[in-house]
Amino acid sequence: MKIIITGGAGFMGSNMIRYLLRTYKDVEVVNFDDLTYAGNLSNLSDLDLDPRYSFVKGNISKREDVEALLSKGADVLINYAAETHVDRSILDPDAFVQTNVMGVHNLLEAVRKFSIPRYVQISTDEVYGAVMEGESDEQSRFEPRSPYAASKAAGDLLCHASAVTFGTPVIVTHSVNFYGPYQFPEKLIPLFTTNLFDGKKVPVYGDGLQVREWIFTEDHCRAIDLIAQKGNIGEAYNIGTGHRMPNIELIQQLLKHTGRDESSLEYVLDRPGHDRRYALNSQKLRTELGWEPKMRFEEGIAQTIEWYKQHPEWIANCKSGAYKDYYESQYKHKGHSV
Ligand code: DAU
Repeated sequence: MKIIITGGAGFMGSNMIRYLLRTYKDVEVVNFDDLTYAGNLSNLSDLDLDPRYSFVKGNISKREDVEALLSKGADVLINYAAETHVDRSILDPDAFVQTNVMGVHNLLEAVRKFSIPRYVQISTDEVYGAVMEGESDEQSRFEPRSPYAASKAAGDLLCHASAVTFGTPVIVTHSVNFYGPYQFPEKLIPLFTTNLFDGKKVPVYGDGLQVREWIFTEDHCRAIDLIAQKGNIGEAYNIGTGHRMPNIELIQQLLKHTGRDESSLEYVLDRPGHDRRYALNSQKLRTELGWEPKMRFEEGIAQTIEWYKQHPEWIANCKSGAYKDYYESQYKHKGHSV
């Protein structure tokens, strides 16, 4: 079984590669990644000698890169490659349209051209927009409210259209907020945890009462694996845990685990267009495919914070960009196709 993971050097993609190689003996995993600021091959450095794993440098928004990749065939393509940070999309939306819209379009076209039998597109609950009451299910309207969310929604709509018009074998997943080891320190949990360890202040947007729903990486990997194998082609699946809380409640837990107090918090101007609440209904995944989250939030967050505590060098190198330069030169040296 050959599985291509695009965006495999990022947080979720690298966790998925690790999960696949750990779970299946007879699997070949190709990691295709452009090593942008959030792509970090050190996330996978222990796999360098595993003959089942290989790395190809490329960008999904370049048609020739995508065609070169998919022309070699695969059983499954899972696309994690994306611009993902909402704040960055407010500062510079262009890259989001390039990667999250054109990139997905290129993948869809190449999947058709080279007859790839299954393509799983990783998307987000943010396409449904803010949900003040109740939950979003797979039939809910798309109401994206940030350039990031709009670019993801556009990619999802292209998937839907391609499945309907051409019969492209694509499945879209909508996930809640991830957490776990290796997350780039721009997102709430790794940013706050690492800054709190350093005794720095952390910026709480607005009143801190925005609600997010959280999933541990391993639970998400199991869901994607199941959907890739058994999900219905042309359909969408929500992936959520129901574990929702206001940001400030989560931040209190981060303070407790890092031994800091409220004086470390700085309430700052709110994110423009900040979605107040997300809440996913993931009954379809549970009833049709039998998935359930396994990690309790209290345990998952404790493990995650401990991981960041044990990896100060990883964090420092991520923040300085040092890993990227080092690994690019390593891979060139080894003759990989960087
Ligand atoms: O909901 C799924 C989405 O979760 C993913 O699709 C996105 O790729 C991912 O970035 C994430 O989006 P959020 O905007 O929810 O994640 P972020 O970690 O940036 O922020 C979480 C919450 O914390 C959000 O309400 C904004 C707030 N926040 C964030 C940062 C970085 C702060 O109050 N201060 C901060 O410095």
